Order: sequence, then C-alpha cells, then structure tokens
Amino acid sequence: MKVGVLGTGAVAKALAKGFAGTGDDVMIGSREPKGEKAQAIVKEVGAKASAGTLAEAAKFGEIVVICIPGTGVENALKLAGPENFAGKIVIDVSVPLDFSKGMPPGLFMGTSDSLGEQNQRQLPDAYVVKAFNIVGNPDMVNPDFPDGKPDMLICGNDGDAKKSVTEILHKFGWPTVVYLGGIEGSRELEPFVVLWVRYGIATGNWKIAMKMLRR
Ligand SMILES: NC(=O)c1ccc[n+]([C@@H]2O[C@H](COP(=O)([O-])OP(=O)(O)OC[C@H]3O[C@@H](n4cnc5c(N)ncnc54)[C@H](OP(=O)(O)O)[C@@H]3O)[C@@H](O)[C@H]2O)c1
Repeated sequence: MKVGVLGTGAVAKALAKGFAGTGDDVMIGSREPKGEKAQAIVKEVGAKASAGTLAEAAKFGEIVVICIPGTGVENALKLAGPENFAGKIVIDVSVPLDFSKGMPPGLFMGTSDSLGEQNQRQLPDAYVVKAFNIVGNPDMVNPDFPDGKPDMLICGNDGDAKKSVTEILHKFGWPTVVYLGGIEGSRELEPFVVLWVRYGIATGNWKIAMKMLRR
C-alpha cells in the first residue's frame, strides 16, 4: 500500500517507520521536502520512504496520515489540496493543543467542535478516522507495557474506514481497538491528550498509555 504521511515531526517519523516496517511505501509530505527534517526521516526509514510536497504526498497516498500540529493543520490541508484526498482514508492524529500559557497545554477548540470534525469538513470527500492521538509517539507502534497491551480508541463516520484503520492498528500491535462513534468522538479523544500530559507531570512517568479495566 502507498501511504502519504503529512508532517516531519516525531509522530510522522514513528508512523512512517511503522508503515514501512509492515511493507508499505511511504511518502513524507513537507513544506520543505528537500529540507533537513524530511530528508532525515527518509534516511532513517530507509528504501521504502521518499519525500514530497504536502500535495505530492497526499496524491501519492492510498491512505493519508495527518501528523501536523493543531495550529497548522488547516494550512497544511490547504497546501495538500483537498481534492487529493477524495475517496481516501485519512488517519488524523492531530490535537488542538494550545501551549500559549505553558504547561500543561490547553485546547484552542471548545467542547462543541474538534479538529477531527474540522478536518472532515475540509476534506468532505475523504473518510477521516481519528486514531493514535491518545498515546505518545514512542508507543504508537508496537506498544510494550508490563501490564499488557493498551487500548486504542478511534472514531470516524465511515464504518469501512474504521475497519481498515483497525487492521492497520492490529498490525502495529494494538489488539484492542474501541470505536467511539462518528468523527464527533474527537471532542473527547483530543482532550484526552491534556489528561495524558497532566498525568505525566503528576507522576514524572511519560511512558504511559491507557487501558480500561473491565468486568
Ligand atoms: N508528539 C506526540 O507524541 C504526539 C502524540 C499524540 C498526538 N500528537 C499530535 O500529532 C500531531 C503531530 O505531532 P508532532 O509532535 O509530530 O508535530 P510537530 O513536530 O510539532 O510538527 C510536525 C510537522 O508539521 C509541519 N507543520 C508545522 N506547522 C505547520 C503549518 N503551519 N503548516 C503546514 N505544516 C506545518 C512541520 O513540517 P514541515 O516544516 O516539514 O512542513 C512539522 O515538522 C500534533 O497535532 C500533535 O498534537 C502528538
């Protein structure tokens, strides 16, 4: 499969490695595809990776992954060209974090909208699935914890798209994937990151992921 990964940060690198590691071809999308950050990821991911503009990566991908800060995502999707996402599954990892008042971050969107929904509105012909955003990038692929595998929570409007993303998650070492309904579930999934950060600050442990206890 061909995967377009938009962004050149830690999340883009982790997921690009994950996709390449399960046999997919990856194009990193950047405003500066020949720049240091994009080229460093290509070098680290290896032969299955290349870099292009945001539009080239969106066009390349049969699946496209959004790994852009909340403040930049609208611009990134504009540069990528919404027409390049038509009919495709879009995995959205973005979170509307607001660091303007320091740590812990706040959210620049309220509780009656979310970036997942905004991204779906901006890409009306794509199938946006919010996934991976509730965990730190070092644990996005093959999470390994002594107490067992964490849960991944996802949401999106299209059932088939959620099933496809679930298959990817299984390949990436997430056996338990819980569907939180339509893309409006991002209103709860995105703020989870603030809780995750507060837990990290409170405990000093950032190697954390969530699992619901059940009986
Ligand atoms: N870091 C984590 O562990 C983690 C965990 C869960 C969720 N998330 C979420 O995942 C997303 C990516 O996180 P990250 O830490 O990898 O991000 P990041 O390093 O802050 O940024 C990723 C890339 O986005 C591009 N970008 C930044 N501003 C932009 C703008 N205005 N327009 C277009 N492109 C822009 C830049 O690429 P170029 O300069 O190459 O264009 C940048 O390298 C964020 O929304 C974050 O909240 C992160």
